[in-house]
Amino acid sequence: MGLKFSSSLLLFILAAVIHHHHPTTALPLSTNSRWIVDNGNGGERVKLSCVNWVSHLDAVVAEGLSKQPVDAISNKISAMGFNCVRLTYPLFLFTNDSFASVTVRQSLRKLGLIESIAGFQSNNPSIIDLPLLQAFQLEMELLDNDSFVSSLDRNNIMMILDNQISTPGWCCSDFDGNGFFGDPYFNPDVWLKGLTKVATMFNGSTNVVGMSLRNELRGPRQNVSVWYRYMQKGAEAVHAANPNVLVIVSGLSYDKDLSFLHTQPLTLTFSQKLVYEIHWYGFSNSEDWETGNPNDVCGRVVENITAKSGFLLDQGYPLFVSEWGVDQRGTNENDNRFLNCFLAWAAEYDLDWALWTLAGSYYFRQGVVGMEEFYGVLNWDWCKPRNSSFLEKISPLQSPFQGNKLEF
Ligand SMILES: *[C@@H]1O[C@H](CO)[C@@H](O)[C@H](O)[C@H]1NC(C)=O
Ligand SMILES: *[C@@H]1O[C@H](CO)[C@@H](O)[C@H](O)[C@H]1NC(C)=O
Ligand SMILES: *[C@@H]1O[C@H](CO)[C@@H](O)[C@H](O)[C@H]1NC(C)=O
Ligand SMILES: *[C@@H]1O[C@H](CO)[C@@H](O)[C@H](O)[C@H]1NC(C)=O
Ligand SMILES: *[C@@H]1O[C@H](CO)[C@@H](O)[C@H](O)[C@H]1NC(C)=O
Ligand SMILES: *[C@@H]1O[C@H](CO)[C@@H](O)[C@H](O)[C@H]1NC(C)=O
Repeated sequence: MGLKFSSSLLLFILAAVIHHHHPTTALPLSTNSRWIVDNGNGGERVKLSCVNWVSHLDAVVAEGLSKQPVDAISNKISAMGFNCVRLTYPLFLFTNDSFASVTVRQSLRKLGLIESIAGFQSNNPSIIDLPLLQAFQLEMELLDNDSFVSSLDRNNIMMILDNQISTPGWCCSDFDGNGFFGDPYFNPDVWLKGLTKVATMFNGSTNVVGMSLRNELRGPRQNVSVWYRYMQKGAEAVHAANPNVLVIVSGLSYDKDLSFLHTQPLTLTFSQKLVYEIHWYGFSNSEDWETGNPNDVCGRVVENITAKSGFLLDQGYPLFVSEWGVDQRGTNENDNRFLNCFLAWAAEYDLDWALWTLAGSYYFRQGVVGMEEFYGVLNWDWCKPRNSSFLEKISPLQSPFQGNKLEF
């Protein structure tokens, strides 16, 4: 009895310590039915609790570096309970020589961002005079290195690279020329070349655990058979260049529709690396939340999601909700009601996810200098959480409920 008590107490303390210190995960990751698992003995479940870090806007550099040093930001990410970042990039950073010779300073200056230059200079002096591609690489190296700092408070932040768009700038609309294969800025061959370049470049970066092939396919050219053709090519290209990463595949209609997989699976030459991703926001269902009865709307929308993508869990694939989020001021009733439904659904299925978004503000978004992001977990100057009660609400989702071998 006494022995049993003390050993469970020990396990309890162990679990608490492990939870607090985010233990190093044995990488690379792979999949085991609908779960993402690590590379340790037997493959223990790893739950992705990520936050999106925007790096695809006009300035073509990770947001926030004029406000805080990279390592200060990675510490905050970890302190807020996230174990992973989904870093977004524009394809042309890797395929278009017009970005190769432009430095961060020149890129910011071209947009007239004098204040950002001064802030960047003082917070991240080692990055500001690098060409944009090298700046991206150095930032990744800093994040990768931070994760391995051998202290008790190691960060262990995993990274997923997401091809958000081709042309740098805010995403997305049906007619922005970036929506689907064959659009003016979406040549499939250029895309495959870019994916290969990214996968190759980060083949040696242990903490890069996944690559999202393309964000929010959309627009008038959408076509299911073309989807199969190029998603297969993209997945194979990434895997050939970097067999370590999870290959993350999105659907049609802004990452909301994978229903065609009901009848025809995506055929690949490799296994245990494929993850599907979807997006879900309050505004995905226009104003339904505010105008309808929230329980009815929740039931109806969840049923719809199950038919469009949720069924993939039953088919034995992980489903990564790579974008979801709300206005964290708590003043948008549509978002508040959506959030309650989302939290219950994500907990019930114990899903992997990435919150939109980290940024408290952007250098330059849609023509506005220093635009504040009310969906951002950090405040305007990136120094503290925007709303700690929001973080408390999502914190249960940051730990796994199921599939973990530490069961008591
Ligand atoms: C390179 O990028 C510029 C600026 O976004 C764009 O106008 C041009 O079409 C791109 N060129 C290629 C070959 O993708
Ligand atoms: C990352 O760590 C390696 C090995 O310790 C070191 O050689 C390299 O300079 C570090 N990179 C940065 C950007 O600090
Ligand atoms: C989809 O693309 C295929 C192959 O290019 C074409 O044969 C088919 O007509 C297209 N379907 C639609 C609905 O546009
Ligand atoms: C990528 O890294 C793995 C080791 O993790 C290595 O076996 C493989 O050859 C590398 N692939 C390429 C294309 O460099
Ligand atoms: C289901 O979701 C799609 C978007 O993915 C939407 O167009 C459609 O109206 C929804 N249907 C219902 C019944 O809610
Ligand atoms: C935080 O969110 C709650 C709603 O969840 C809201 O009542 C509160 O005013 C918000 N606080 C701030 C500082 O925005």
